[in-house]
This record gives sequence, structure tokens and C-alpha cells, in this order.
Amino acid sequence: MKHFLDIADWTRTDLQALLDQAVALKKEHKKHGNAPLLKGKTLALVFQKPSLRTRVSFELAMHHVGGYAFYLSPQEIGLGKRESIADVARVLGGYADMVMARTFDHAHITGLAEWSPVPVINGLTDYNHPCQGMADLLTMYEEFGQLEGLHLAYLGDSNNVLTSLIMGAAQFGIKVTVGSPAGYQPQESVIQKAYDLSGGTLDITVTTDPVAAITGADVVYTDTWTSMGQEAEAEDRRQVFPPFQVNDDLLAHAAEHAIVMHCLPAHRGEEITDAVADGPQSRLFPQAENRLHAQKAILVELLGATPKTKAPQEVKAAKALKKAPKKAKKSKK
Ligand code: CP
Ligand code: NVA
Repeated sequence: MKHFLDIADWTRTDLQALLDQAVALKKEHKKHGNAPLLKGKTLALVFQKPSLRTRVSFELAMHHVGGYAFYLSPQEIGLGKRESIADVARVLGGYADMVMARTFDHAHITGLAEWSPVPVINGLTDYNHPCQGMADLLTMYEEFGQLEGLHLAYLGDSNNVLTSLIMGAAQFGIKVTVGSPAGYQPQESVIQKAYDLSGGTLDITVTTDPVAAITGADVVYTDTWTSMGQEAEAEDRRQVFPPFQVNDDLLAHAAEHAIVMHCLPAHRGEEITDAVADGPQSRLFPQAENRLHAQKAILVELLGATPKTKAPQEVKAAKALKKAPKKAKKSKK
């Protein structure tokens, strides 16, 4: 059974095929609407946390390809509490053709996948956010026409979103610099997994110096300082994260052509200023839109409905990258 739980589980070739398919489906959707590739198919959406983008983009992606999605709120099911994960997986699999779940504990999504008779999609856990990662790769690919050799700087909390970005970087040869305060840097296990995934070629640097992290970056990424489930720590986090705020002064150290990304929801005035979020370098809203297209490609692929004849899609890159990829390096300070 094929699931979509982690960018690290898929090969680079398969991920590139998903991106190509996403580009094709996006083009088709904008031109005259999508073909009904998933006619009559159903998707269960299980949420243990709130959502805007993930819920709406999955519901509409299914609608666009002739399928149907239904939403189960955090108040329903009681995953692992009212009913065991194994039972929920088997019951839902008897009704729906696919299950997307957003959970706190990553073991809950892997548990669902283990017991589910139908494909399971990870819509965010405390550990990672692979659908977001795919939309982000699509956004960078459209912007620069290539992923290999890009420099992605991530500023702020080393959370679930960063984990998926690091796995994507490992797969596609993107250089990563992470600027985070001590105590909020990526787990060694995440870096090691990505390094192994890349066959020892991942170029990643972790630093407590935000200027060093952002200098020369093609893509500047940030996310909330306090993720869902960490609300009790919000005040403590507000004390240590301000030097990592993506504002005009910090952004001035990135490449002149740099774009700014954020998975949203944004806490304007905290991890990002209004001026940057709404400024000319911001890609926040095209990035949010790309959730729809990237996930549509995943849904179609998981049910084996990807059209076989589609040639690799050309993206008309907004900007061409004019530099060679740098040599491999792995360091942490
Ligand atoms: N970026 C993202 O996953 O947004 P939602 O929490 O609104 O789904
Ligand atoms: N890191 C954030 C992402 C929200 C989409 C969180 O987990 O709350």
C-alpha cells in the first residue's frame, strides 16, 4: 500500500514526477478545469488540530477531479481515545478510498497507515508536514525552474515544516542554512536522516546567527515561533525569537532576487513583518495556492490515476538561477 507520510519515503524521481504532474494539473485547472481522474472516489479528512489551507485545498482538489471529501473535526473520532487507531483505520478504510489525517503524535499517522486498507496522507504532525513541503518545492521550482543548487535559509523555530523542507532539500540538492536560537535547532536525528537520504551530499548549516543564516539565500523561509500544541510556551518563545524575525533589515542580507515563503498562518509582527509578508519578494499566497495543485497530484498518484502519457512539464520560471551548486558540507554551530 502506497501512503504519503514523509518526503523521505519517496524517491527523487517519484517526487519530481509529482511536481511535474502538479504543474500539469495546475495548468489544466486554470485553462478549462481538470479531467475527472478520481470520479466517484472519496477522501476522509481527519483533523485533530485546526486548519484553513489543508482542509480547503484537499476538499477542493477532490472536487476538481470528480471526487468527494468529507471532514471530521477535532471534536469527532477521538483518535486513540474514544477508539483505537487500528480500529479507526479499518473502519474509515471500509468507507473511503483514501484518508488524510492531521495529528499531534507522529506515531498516530504511522499507526493509521499500518492498519489502513487504503492510502493514508499526512496532513501535518508534530514531526513533519510533507504536503506543505511538496507545495513549497513546487513554488521554488516555478520560481527558479530548478531545485538543485538553490540556497534555502530557514529562520525561526525548527519545527515540523522545517523537517519536511530539510527532507526535500536532501532529495533535490538544495543547500540549507538554519538560523535558530539554541534549544530550538533541528534534532540531530532529523539532520542525520536527511544526510543519509542524500547519500552524504546534503549541504546544511545550523547557526544561532540570523545574518549568517540568511546571507546570499535564494529562498527565505519562516514559520510561527509557537506551533499548535505548544501554546503554553508562547511567552517564553517570544523572548528568544525576535532576532530571527524576517524583516526588511534581515532580508537585505539575502540575494537580491530572493523570495520569501511562509507556510501560514503567519503571526505578523512576530516571525515576519507586514512589510515583508506583503512586499514584492513575498510568495506567501502563490505558495498557499500551490497546496491545491501539489496535493491533487498526490491524490491522483496514490489511486493510480496519473495519466501515463504526460510528458515532463516545462515550468516557465519567473527567475533563472545563475550559479553552480556548492560542494557538500554538514556543520552545526
Ligand atoms: N499551512 C497549513 O498547513 O495551514 P493550515 O494549518 O491552515 O492547514
Ligand atoms: N508549525 C505550524 C505549522 C502550521 C501549518 C504548526 O504546527 O502549528
